[in-house]
Amino acid sequence: MSQFIVKGGGRLRGETAIQGAKNSVLPILAAALLTADQVELRGCPRLRDVDASVRILEGLGCTARWEGTNTLVVNARDMNAWSIPDRLCREMRSSAIFLGSILARCGQAELSYPGGCELGPRPIDLHLSGLRDLGAEIDDTGGVLHCKASHLCGREIVLSLPSVGATENLMLAACGASGVTTIANAAREPEIVDLQNFLIACGARVRGAGSSTVCIECPGPLHGCTYTVMPDRIVAATYLCAAASAGGEVFLRGAREEHLSTVTAVLREAGCSILADEAGVGCCCQNRLSAVRPVRTAPYPGFPTDAQAILMAALLKSQGATVFEENMFENRYRHVDELTRMGANIRVSGRAAVVSGVECLHGAPVRCTDLRGGAALCVAALAAEGETSVREISHIDRGYEDLAGDLQALGASVLRTGD
Ligand code: UD1
Repeated sequence: MSQFIVKGGGRLRGETAIQGAKNSVLPILAAALLTADQVELRGCPRLRDVDASVRILEGLGCTARWEGTNTLVVNARDMNAWSIPDRLCREMRSSAIFLGSILARCGQAELSYPGGCELGPRPIDLHLSGLRDLGAEIDDTGGVLHCKASHLCGREIVLSLPSVGATENLMLAACGASGVTTIANAAREPEIVDLQNFLIACGARVRGAGSSTVCIECPGPLHGCTYTVMPDRIVAATYLCAAASAGGEVFLRGAREEHLSTVTAVLREAGCSILADEAGVGCCCQNRLSAVRPVRTAPYPGFPTDAQAILMAALLKSQGATVFEENMFENRYRHVDELTRMGANIRVSGRAAVVSGVECLHGAPVRCTDLRGGAALCVAALAAEGETSVREISHIDRGYEDLAGDLQALGASVLRTGD
């Protein structure tokens, strides 16, 4: 069984480059189906979820091959299937993102219902009602989604909440629709802008991503392109929080502060110095952190739910108490029990968690409960006296290319064993 062995208590000093964004590359891989030409994706992170997407693409008759470490070349010319087997849907919870692009390319699609995940229920009702608005007929009985659309037709779709996945799925489906599709109350995350830029590079007319209205029009067939994926803002947030937790000074090459401003604002409030330029983002933290005003997760540009556990881990030894409010997912405090094993003082009540800073944390055997919760355990372990073994790290492998290697480059003592 693989695990990380973290020896805590030392300060960090060093720099590392930030990998490409998982949440960008997954919809872009689905978008690669929209063209019969070759797509070359640079800066593509090597992750479990990317491997699962590649298996889905191969199952649909496409080819995908790695060139060098981080370039993935996809060719969907010989795509010959429109259904994704249940086994592959279970491997990757965001497999629903393929619905829009398969439908746009083939006029039909079939995949099993994604169901819940470690964060709680993951409904896709907004994806489905938007696809129906574009003209798809969807039968979702028996756990399998059967979708058909002889003709998708662009129109205005109003999302009742700004879902990232629904916005992306509808952008992809809209590439196979006649006329203009307008998505109102769209999600505004930077990954939506990245998908827009990829689609434009393939010849689609897309505008508005980053605002709450996105317009898509695709008058002719899309062509291939070479595209570089944006840096992963949650991975960058993790390493900023690592420096805040352990103390010291780190520099993250390629990180973009404009994507991280709510996280860096909180870290500044807690007492860190953040320096950003075109090359990346640095964090320097010399003293004990202070508690901060309530941290409420919200859709972008609000505080990201994916950084909630990680920031909480950084504040475990702060002076005073910080209130967290999780507004995006029901089951997103599962890391709390594990942090408590290290000596953290956290009380959870419904959506709220109150972190009261303690003088010291101690190493303990802990286990990852989910992707970001797992990263949070490593962030906390850096500030704990003694050794922490972090087990069930396959969760972490879904989103971090080399967490142990990156933390070592930042001066931490983290070893991966048992592979
Ligand atoms: C994406 C990210 C995930 C991040 C989340 C919120 C990817 C692969 N994953 O997930 O890391 O935590 O955004 O920033 O990009 N909802 C519905 N009905 C729907 C869709 C969503 O009720 O049809 C609800 C969800 O239950 C949740 C909220 O909307 O409460 C936000 O979900 P959404 O933005 O869709 O998240 P994902 O795209 O699944």
